[in-house]
Amino acid sequence: MSFSRLEYSSYFGADRPTVTDDERSKGVVSAFPSIVTNDLPPIYDEKDPNASSLVNFPNLPLVVEGQGVVAVQVTPGAEFSIILTPSPTLKDEETALQLHLTTTSAKFLQVKGADVKEIPSVTPKGPEAALLVPGVPDLYWLSVDKKNGILRYGKTYRSAAVTFLGARVDIGDKETTPGPYIWIKQLKYISILSIGGTSVLGDQLPEEVRPDLRQVSVGHLPIVSDLPPIVAESIDVTLEDLALGLTTSIANLSPECQRLYANVSGPGVQVDDEGFPDFSQALEYSIRTPGKLCHEKLKEKAGEFGEADMTYLRITLGSDEGNSPGVPYVMEIWPSKHKSPIHDHGEAYAVIKVLHGQINASYFANLNSKAQIKLEPDYTFYKGGVTWLGPDNYQVHQLHNDSDRVCVTIQCYQYANKDRAHDEYFEYLDGKTGEKKPFYPSSDWDFMTFKSRVKQEWEEHLKDLEWK
Ligand SMILES: [Fe+2]
Repeated sequence: MSFSRLEYSSYFGADRPTVTDDERSKGVVSAFPSIVTNDLPPIYDEKDPNASSLVNFPNLPLVVEGQGVVAVQVTPGAEFSIILTPSPTLKDEETALQLHLTTTSAKFLQVKGADVKEIPSVTPKGPEAALLVPGVPDLYWLSVDKKNGILRYGKTYRSAAVTFLGARVDIGDKETTPGPYIWIKQLKYISILSIGGTSVLGDQLPEEVRPDLRQVSVGHLPIVSDLPPIVAESIDVTLEDLALGLTTSIANLSPECQRLYANVSGPGVQVDDEGFPDFSQALEYSIRTPGKLCHEKLKEKAGEFGEADMTYLRITLGSDEGNSPGVPYVMEIWPSKHKSPIHDHGEAYAVIKVLHGQINASYFANLNSKAQIKLEPDYTFYKGGVTWLGPDNYQVHQLHNDSDRVCVTIQCYQYANKDRAHDEYFEYLDGKTGEKKPFYPSSDWDFMTFKSRVKQEWEEHLKDLEWK
């Protein structure tokens, strides 16, 4: 049996993957599982007097020795570590890998008995980004890649783009030329160390108590590179695209994204249709003319997200089916030079298609009013172009229309199949104060009502022109 791109197991053990055999036989692959799963019981019982700061997970080893990604949802204290060892409990003659985080340092350590060496590393997003933030719940992950000799550590989203600490190590080849880091090939067992600090409630925690360590998930494959945000039709993918990773075919994405894509990618999903061929032109007119529908609504919404030009219109299609934050299909209308605030997507999947004009997208590693980290590069999507996002990829973005014409997009959303938490809102950073706020997806109009009102307005305008 061949494995899909990424599969995760819960700490129930490697024989209980997040995708069941039944789901797999139906072709469901879990490329981007959510770790927010309510069916995972907490592994730390606060009342347990024997709770230790170091926990071993003998039943949850890496599936392939020396490779995989270990992710821990935790509210850390003053010190946090993910440790990988060749045996369930480390022996003196064995070598372990330790990701060691404190509020002042982030390091990969090579540990052999009492001999502890730091592995030379880099901080792609700056040293600050890599530090431990006590008392704030977050996802901390460690990826080990024996094939490419790469160690990565990141936070919040399991993606290569949010690598906060990286190291390239010489593993070499076991038989012919073993490198100094050949021991990485034997790593298999997971331990988590979380010590002291302050709990979310502000109470000082004793050293021996492990703060709120909630969920651990293990991916079979390491984090190597991210799929690009541009989705191309298979028929358009070139050899250069494959070599440079410029676009992805929809086939590489999760079943959720594939379903969303199938619904909106067809040529019939467009603004200007037979019934109203001037729709996009009418929108431009309605936006630019005082007293008209879009112009007045935008005026009413000015300042909604802080800055005056942080407005766009949300036209919903269909009704809320309880499987997405708000209505699953939303047509968004972006006047020239307008933008969204920086926001996340409640860990949902989304597919966005440009129906008219062009839109620019900027991406971020997190949604944090104090330490916002931007990812490079920005992208521009043109008419007909499709982009995607998932629980671990491209979750935090800002859309901005830098062009001098209106842009119309359709966004569709869906929660992860395994996601039972269902965030009912997105969060955004207020454009003025930088404060994090909830945004409950709203609707300015229902699509059919909106279209007929814009059409009526346009026809009146054309009639006026005739008289002039
Ligand atoms: Fe968005």
